[in-house]
Amino acid sequence: MLNIFDPYAEAVSEYKQQQRLRQLRQIRTLPQGRILVDGIELVNFASNDYLGLSQHPKLKKRAIEFIEKYGVGSPSSRLLSGNLECYETIENKLAALKGTETALILASGFQTNSTVLAALGQKGMLLGSDRLNHNSIIQGLISSQSAWFRYKHNDTGDLDSKLSKKTVNHYSCKWIISESVFSMDGDIADLDGLRNTASHYGAGLYIDEAHATGVLGKNGMGLTAQNKLADISMGTFGKGLGSFGSYVACSHIIRDFLINRCPGLIYSTALPPSVLGAIDSALDLIPTMENERSRLLTNAMDLRNRIKTLGFDCADSDTQIIPIVIGKEETALSLSRSLEKQGFYVPAIRPPTVPEGTARVRISLTLDQTKEQLSALIEALKSWHEKKD
Ligand SMILES: Cc1ncc(COP(=O)(O)O)c(C=O)c1O
Repeated sequence: MLNIFDPYAEAVSEYKQQQRLRQLRQIRTLPQGRILVDGIELVNFASNDYLGLSQHPKLKKRAIEFIEKYGVGSPSSRLLSGNLECYETIENKLAALKGTETALILASGFQTNSTVLAALGQKGMLLGSDRLNHNSIIQGLISSQSAWFRYKHNDTGDLDSKLSKKTVNHYSCKWIISESVFSMDGDIADLDGLRNTASHYGAGLYIDEAHATGVLGKNGMGLTAQNKLADISMGTFGKGLGSFGSYVACSHIIRDFLINRCPGLIYSTALPPSVLGAIDSALDLIPTMENERSRLLTNAMDLRNRIKTLGFDCADSDTQIIPIVIGKEETALSLSRSLEKQGFYVPAIRPPTVPEGTARVRISLTLDQTKEQLSALIEALKSWHEKKD
């Protein structure tokens, strides 16, 4: 008789054979862009804490103040007794920064995409999603009641040709879904093109600003801030804003609808007060960090140019996320291991996280790495490149 664990043991063994077994490593974050990985000190190129806010004294201070005032946990979901008074202030602040009627805070970006899209996508509707959108978006599509399709990455021509099919008129409502900064390629969506296509077909535009929030756009609040390009945008507080959680910036109608229909909001405990304190403080700081953003993006441009000069492929990266696309999984692993031996933590990203044949190492640049560390990384890449040839 089949042991209940056999299918899982088989899957794990298959991953091992294919050298695709993911494993958790023991991490401790150290100052100055460094990290301890399984006890070994490396320069960290795998952090989304782009502005270093997770260690900022002002965020820590307000997190502690909120703990003192409200305690360490929330008593329930927001709809029961978890909607602490501070939510209103923070959501108003957020909406003002995004230039939207209102905003709604949820527990994580994954929860937001996977459950907001599930709620928005009703029967008889159609959802069109960029082929490289994050897995949380895909989970939202799968859980929705809508029909859905994927269009070629950042290709409004392909999107248009899919939407121009006659049968599309049968759908009562359409949504186009894209990231503004793509998480694995670091390229930027053609937001004007998406807006035009959406308007042409009477569709709504839903934009994921997870990797743009804090870094790009008006006051660092993402590429849809203050410009009405998106009908709904979401973003996370767990990357550029240094703590945890997620938001939806939207109209009053969408907010009311989500409060009534979004399972991630209704059936999950509200964020802990410490996190709300950190979010509140980050929203005060972010608009004042124009110089830091400019330094981060200049460093990213310089680093990308130097990597390209070595003959590597950085896809269409135009941001602080810089992939080095290698192709074969074994080669991407070999590069990542070689960099690790030389003192740099730059994980390999392989299928199914990225499409087959596009395995890569992915550099996440933050304000923490020094010029010397960046130059040393270039030398390490050069050394691997020369040995490989
Ligand atoms: C594009 C994108 N959207 C959503 C998420 C999920 O956000 P969170 O980490 O807050 O769950 C991520 C996380 O990596 C992401 O890259």
